[in-house]
Amino acid sequence: MTVDAHILAAFRNAEGGAVSGEDLATRLQISRAAIWARIEELRQLGYEIEASPHEGYRLKKCPDLLHADDLLARLDGKQLIGRDIRVFKETTSTNDAVERVARDGEAEGVVVFAETQTKGRGRLGRRWISPPGRGLWFSILLRPNISPQSITQITVASAVSLRRAIKTVTGLVAEIKWPNDLMLNGLKIAGILTELSSEPDAVKHVVLGIGVDVNLTSEDIPEELRNVATSLRIVTGRKLDRAALAIQILREIDRAYASIQEGMFEELSNEWASGCATIGKDVTIEMGGRLLQGRVEALDQDGALLLRTEHGRLERVIAGDVRIHPS
Ligand code: BTN
Repeated sequence: MTVDAHILAAFRNAEGGAVSGEDLATRLQISRAAIWARIEELRQLGYEIEASPHEGYRLKKCPDLLHADDLLARLDGKQLIGRDIRVFKETTSTNDAVERVARDGEAEGVVVFAETQTKGRGRLGRRWISPPGRGLWFSILLRPNISPQSITQITVASAVSLRRAIKTVTGLVAEIKWPNDLMLNGLKIAGILTELSSEPDAVKHVVLGIGVDVNLTSEDIPEELRNVATSLRIVTGRKLDRAALAIQILREIDRAYASIQEGMFEELSNEWASGCATIGKDVTIEMGGRLLQGRVEALDQDGALLLRTEHGRLERVIAGDVRIHPS
């Protein structure tokens, strides 16, 4: 852990109480002047820190920004996902940033957040709006020990993890729209973009990109998307702590990813199915220029959709754009 991470963790443990500069200096084996310099640096970032000569430092207010050291300090250090966290103020797409990390040969678990993306992308070549400081736009490097055919498992596990984290932080139960959308009141609040690099029978790496519309106001959402997308802030009526949600999501993904690696996908897939608004529905699926119509019967063991087509055939769908027909 860095010095900043230690200082921020000490503030959090003090729960609004004072933290002695001398204690910090002793614990971290640096001078009190060095502690003071780090406190100044944190103030520059927007942390409101009060100093009193007798008591020490007191954290009055945290800025609404993602701070890599702070996020690291808030995870317990034992998890794989988030063992290395990087935060960019701006990037084209966090998926591109993680792709570069992957090509550099980094081990899995690295997470890259950006406060804003200039070329955020969604599935099927769509753009992904990522206004600064309003959401969680991040990507995770994974090197799963599964076959390329089973890669949908990662998306399913991520959707379940997002749903669990949103429930814990907001109390809201999101619906899942296959394969990767999280919905509240019929509008999208989060999406997942899984990009795979593989050889014919082995996965080289996966870049798991996640976008969560956390604190967007309706003005932040382009007019043409207001009937398809919303944010947690719009639904709950309050501004949320993005860092707290980010931590919860990373914990859940860590847990779910471990389950997949241990061959225990079934539990996740059952939870996915129970939260999935697509099962049992009549749908049209656009799949590589082909339109399929039918009723969704189930999810198979790899997370692919089983569609009973209008001609009575059972089709296995691993990717596509689903439109649910009104019942
Ligand atoms: C979708 O629903 O179409 C997927 C959206 C995925 C958006 C996230 S934001 C972080 C990461 N970087 C990107 O460019 N896309 C993903």
